[in-house]
Amino acid sequence: MLATNSCSVLALFPGYTKKKTVILLILLALIYFVLNWDGIKYSKISETPMHETHRIHRRNSALTSSIFNPTYQDYQRLIDLNDFYFNIINPEACNVPVFLLVLVSSAANHLHHRHIIRTTWGQQRTGIKIIFVLGKVQDNILQREIVKESNVYGDIIQGNFLDTYRNLTYKTMSAFKFMLYHCKKASYMLKIDDDDFVNVPLLLNFLKNDLSVSGTDNVFICNHLTGYQVSRNVSSKWYVSEMDLSDDFYPSYCAGWYVLLSPDVLFRLYETTQKLKYISVDDALIYGYAREKCNLVHTDFTRFTREYSELELDFNETYDSLPLLFGGPNMSSEQIKKFWLHFRSRPVLKSLRHEEKSRTKVLSKIPKVISL
Ligand SMILES: *[C@@H]1O[C@H](CO)[C@@H](O)[C@H](O)[C@H]1NC(C)=O
Ligand SMILES: *[C@@H]1O[C@H](CO)[C@@H](O)[C@H](O)[C@H]1NC(C)=O
Ligand SMILES: *[C@@H]1O[C@H](CO)[C@@H](O)[C@H](O)[C@H]1NC(C)=O
Ligand SMILES: *[C@@H]1O[C@H](CO)[C@@H](O)[C@H](O)[C@H]1NC(C)=O
Repeated sequence: MLATNSCSVLALFPGYTKKKTVILLILLALIYFVLNWDGIKYSKISETPMHETHRIHRRNSALTSSIFNPTYQDYQRLIDLNDFYFNIINPEACNVPVFLLVLVSSAANHLHHRHIIRTTWGQQRTGIKIIFVLGKVQDNILQREIVKESNVYGDIIQGNFLDTYRNLTYKTMSAFKFMLYHCKKASYMLKIDDDDFVNVPLLLNFLKNDLSVSGTDNVFICNHLTGYQVSRNVSSKWYVSEMDLSDDFYPSYCAGWYVLLSPDVLFRLYETTQKLKYISVDDALIYGYAREKCNLVHTDFTRFTREYSELELDFNETYDSLPLLFGGPNMSSEQIKKFWLHFRSRPVLKSLRHEEKSRTKVLSKIPKVISL
């Protein structure tokens, strides 16, 4: 197409030499690439059928006060709780520039999980701030330990809702609240559970090289879930009564164990969820119902993650060139350490954009159990 056009253009100028034709062709090709650069760059990142049309916009999006006008009432409100406050808060955590804020949803008594994260992938690093998000406990001894831990590490926040599984949505929303009110200059936010692994060096390269060092709008990255039925089994962890939710199926949503967001998306999800009826299935409520209400589209990154049985993979040369950003959920301390030690000693990909070619080569060598 391009070649034919340029030839017919050339036919109008018989004085042109071969050399000039080549130069003109190169120029036209350059113009084509410049005009389509965004499409070329991102077409590979967002290729899952559901999300084919989604493009991550490259725009600086430090949260401005014009987007978010906090009010006293909003700070105290957490969906249907009207007397919310942080029992423990380390507001100075974000006094330094934060490129990536990692909010780790952690069960209050998981002191060991937090220790593992601090000593493996969560080790201190310029530009990254890790904060553990907890709920309130009734055990005074445990509470004293948590306060001590917070004094030593300065990386804990604790909301005044009871730390229970059914209160998980409060926990996630209080994490969002912390970013909006106390860390609003962070460029990106990763919400993750305390039993997962993050390949931090590769994640940083992805954010800086594939997205932008100065922050990017419209980032909503997760593992896509669809067709999930609302559980009516009262003994299930995910039980929701028909009174609280009459739907039989959830809308498409994200698995809650990790979600990567830009501040603008975080704000819209937060603002919308504040007005919804509480259910304890936090991922379905926030990344399903609230997402739908504010017309947000998420990008599926399942192929850059490993879940459950896939975590058993033996690290050897077969897997070395697989780009892995997140491992989980439900990883043991040993698995987290093993993953961390492995990736720590490997070269880090500069970008996820260029991984697809090498990946297809590697994939042919991998046994079928690992479905990507
Ligand atoms: C959730 O937290 C609230 C506020 O602390 C508490 O009243 C409620 O009992 C908790 N719900 C569950 C199911 O633990
Ligand atoms: C309900 O959930 C419990 C706990 O997960 C499970 O043991 C039980 O088999 C479930 N019952 C039904 C009918 O699915
Ligand atoms: C790598 O590990 C996989 C899974 O355990 C195994 O099947 C494969 O033979 C190993 N490859 C090498 C080169 O050791
Ligand atoms: C999580 O891991 C533990 C042991 O490591 C296992 O007993 C449990 O079944 C796992 N849970 C899920 C949901 O896979």
